[in-house]
Amino acid sequence: MTNERSNMKIVVIGGSGLIGSKLVTKLSEHGHNPVAASPNSGVNTLTGEGLAEVLVGASVVVDVSNSPSFEDAAVLKFFETSTRNLLAAEAEAGVGHHVALSVVGTERLSESGYFRAKIAQEKLIKESPVPYSIVHATQFFEFVKSIADAATDSNRVRLAPVLIQPMAADDVASAVGRVATGSPLNGAIEVAGPERFRLDEFIRQGLSARNDPREVVADPQARYFGAELGERTLVRGDDAQLGETCFDDWLTRSASQIPPANPQPTAVAAASKGTSGPQR
Ligand SMILES: NC(=O)c1ccc[n+]([C@@H]2O[C@H](COP(=O)([O-])OP(=O)(O)OC[C@H]3O[C@@H](n4cnc5c(N)ncnc54)[C@H](OP(=O)(O)O)[C@@H]3O)[C@@H](O)[C@H]2O)c1
Repeated sequence: MTNERSNMKIVVIGGSGLIGSKLVTKLSEHGHNPVAASPNSGVNTLTGEGLAEVLVGASVVVDVSNSPSFEDAAVLKFFETSTRNLLAAEAEAGVGHHVALSVVGTERLSESGYFRAKIAQEKLIKESPVPYSIVHATQFFEFVKSIADAATDSNRVRLAPVLIQPMAADDVASAVGRVATGSPLNGAIEVAGPERFRLDEFIRQGLSARNDPREVVADPQARYFGAELGERTLVRGDDAQLGETCFDDWLTRSASQIPPANPQPTAVAAASKGTSGPQR
């Protein structure tokens, strides 16, 4: 986090979530005053509860919230209503920078209800008078199980064998922190992991490390959260910033924290030595 002002009040909407909690820790370590805000701490962007109060004196707001439901209508309502409420409250409070986390390829995924909601979120941000930055990140390593669950059909996981360049949530939080402590971009940047995989290989390796017995099948017709995928739909552009953490290293580090479904101590090592490794 370079070229930054110190001791800014930075409100992190979704500060109790996966990215939000890591971001709050990193901002504190860099001498800022982050405030984690979410329904559990009395701040609800859907209803507006607690918003005006938490934004008093805030220089920056980072939105890393997520919808509790991914059902089409619910997720659209979540991102549209909460983003509208948040931006209106920021304008009222004189907040100078709105930062939001979105997904690489969002604009190419409009067949998916979830991604239509993220497109709507980004549109509201761009139309608002509040200076902004949007961080487009690739899929988190931590998201393996959710991707597999959404693609499971009779205990088989069907995934298109397209390119993907996933990254560790820790690297996502660092990138969001750098953007939040810099000047507004009034545009978007992309962040991605250091290695490229095929989507089916990535999920197969991730499930194997969790001792998840589901079979992963490469199916070019399989949809990703409702959207058809092309070879490069999920891939970052040439200007993306790359995280440092490799998937193998992350799996090894995470292995001790994953509750074993069917304990096999060598599973992570075996997965790491698989023939279908990353394409750097
Ligand atoms: N998954 C991926 O691979 C990926 C990739 C790129 C970008 N992203 C984006 O990253 C963002 C964060 O994802 P995540 O996985 O870190 O989320 P997460 O762990 O599911 O956390 C969601 C957060 O949203 C909060 N929240 C829920 N309803 C709220 C409301 N009404 N008002 C305020 N806060 C509310 C939750 O608060 P409580 O704990 O109080 O319920 C929680 O802190 C999402 O916007 C997602 O689109 C995800």
